Amino acid sequence: MGHAIRREDALVLAHYYVPDAVQAAADFVGDSFALAQKAVASDKPVIVFCGVSFMGESAKILCPEKEVYLPVPSAHCAMADMASEEEIVHMRENVEDFAVVTYVNSSARLKALSDVIVTSSNAVKVVSRLKEKNIYFIPDKNLGHYVAAQLPEKKFYFGRGFCPIHNATSEEEIAAARSAHPGALLLVHPECPAAVCAQAAYVGSTAGIIAYAEKSEAQEFLIGTEEGTLYELSRRCPGKKFYPTRPNFVCADMKKITPEALERVFAGAGTPVEVAPDVAEKAARALRRMLELAQ
Ligand code: 13P
Ligand code: SF4
Repeated sequence: MGHAIRREDALVLAHYYVPDAVQAAADFVGDSFALAQKAVASDKPVIVFCGVSFMGESAKILCPEKEVYLPVPSAHCAMADMASEEEIVHMRENVEDFAVVTYVNSSARLKALSDVIVTSSNAVKVVSRLKEKNIYFIPDKNLGHYVAAQLPEKKFYFGRGFCPIHNATSEEEIAAARSAHPGALLLVHPECPAAVCAQAAYVGSTAGIIAYAEKSEAQEFLIGTEEGTLYELSRRCPGKKFYPTRPNFVCADMKKITPEALERVFAGAGTPVEVAPDVAEKAARALRRMLELAQ
């Protein structure tokens, strides 16, 4: 059990997928990379991370001296465990000049087995700066293929993981969305299948999609990512129109982070995030390497 927390002692971070009211209550809303950077830069003793469990875990690993709370610790990313320790060990033993590159949407256990972590907004830059030629990209096969397409000088081996929500985006859905909104620009997250990414005017992280829409001269956009992103899109781009590529493009775990759950943390009902020290130490190395290489 935690203890009551004074609002001024805490940095409240929120991902774009949590409910609008939670985004509105946060000190900073961002994509996974920006949120990790904010956690590291904060001088507050407490971080309350409104997101799924890997996000709070990563903040704790990067900031072991801080108390980190997740309003709903049982809210998980479905992709976080979609890679096998045995396969990582097997690949390490059998491939030379090799690096394990792990998407941040992963458990601390997988991060601890990795050479470097990436997010959707820095993956191409980080992998391009690795000296190793052979890259084992886990867990997200779709992001892996997207990164590989930009870096033909590397040889990629792919994991088999995927985000069930983004991976469900089909070419038929895109065709239906396009005929409902002809002329709208398609912006998608790289967790979507390659055939969908190939049709997009822009492929990038949640923050990248928002920044692209803000700068674009276009007035209408089809958004191929979780619909919580529409809150910031509408706030930053008044007058422009945004349509999710399908109805109910929702990450149910992100939606568990309610304002009431956030309030309970401040009332003292939260449990601080803990990561086993041996796992945390190894995972911290891979996460810090990302921060260095992404600069
Ligand atoms: P971003 O880092 O682009 O915000 O993505 C996080 C995520 O979970 C996408 O499904
Ligand atoms: Fe994980 Fe997909 Fe939810 Fe993102 S949208 S947190 S990848 S399950």
